[in-house]
Amino acid sequence: KDRYAVVGNPVEHSRSPAIHAMFAEQTGQDIVYQRLLAPLDGFEPSLRAFAAGGAKGCNITVPFKFEAFGLAAVRTERAELAGAANTLRFDANGWAADNTDGAGLVNDLQHNAGRPLAGLKVLLVGAGGAGAGVLGSLIAAKPAQITIVNRSVDKAEALVASHAHLGVALSAATLPDAPAAQDVVINATSTSLAGAASPVDARVLKPGTLALDMMYGPKAQGFLDWAAAHGAEPRDGLGMLVEQAAEAFFFWRGVRPDTAPVLAALRASL
Ligand code: ATR
Repeated sequence: KDRYAVVGNPVEHSRSPAIHAMFAEQTGQDIVYQRLLAPLDGFEPSLRAFAAGGAKGCNITVPFKFEAFGLAAVRTERAELAGAANTLRFDANGWAADNTDGAGLVNDLQHNAGRPLAGLKVLLVGAGGAGAGVLGSLIAAKPAQITIVNRSVDKAEALVASHAHLGVALSAATLPDAPAAQDVVINATSTSLAGAASPVDARVLKPGTLALDMMYGPKAQGFLDWAAAHGAEPRDGLGMLVEQAAEAFFFWRGVRPDTAPVLAALRASL
């Protein structure tokens, strides 16, 4: 059996082992997928030991996505754009890094939620690691415009600068200056961890706005309730989680799992 893991700190609540076990069963791939808790100051040795033991790859979660990116010998274009990696493949000639978070988000929005992004107004709330990781894929889906708002606006401005060459109308603003009446609003901040409903005013919404929080479970509820109360269509991050996992599975195995039954099973188990 080929071995994989999700490496993070903390990592005990990760749903990735369950998701990849379902993918493996569905596609007949003979793999095992574990959780690996790495010490905060010992990510690299943990990873090297895991790879030296014959493992084929891993997912990376908080707070090691930047460090993982730095350890890779080759990187996909979307990992380069994100400056972070959530997936590594241990190839004989070096480690290959990918970042599947953005593709996971876009696939969830477009395929699962049925909201093709082409021509839409998109508001990305949060310019931290989570926001930066998905921006390139959002741009590739060719919305009419993307506005990035952040508490500290300099981070949003830096993202606009680093992605400006990609050819979509991009702008940065502070949270209070978020534009009104957006088609899609994505919460990529960690404010929900603090129990806040939304970091932006409800005027960013209009009837039918798709309002997605990258979190899932109780952490996302405040934002989802806020969105629903203002006539938006709320969506949590569970679909994104399953879709980013499917992209990683493909990166490792060259096989694309069917995500719909896995998302349904995961939702039923929450
Ligand atoms: P992550 O990897 O989850 O994105 P991060 O890089 O620390 O973590 O980013 C956290 C994001 O949540 C940032 O956009 C942060 O805003 P700042 O860049 O201004 O810090 C945002 N955030 C966290 N707490 C917040 C709060 N109380 N109000 C508004 N934004 C907040």
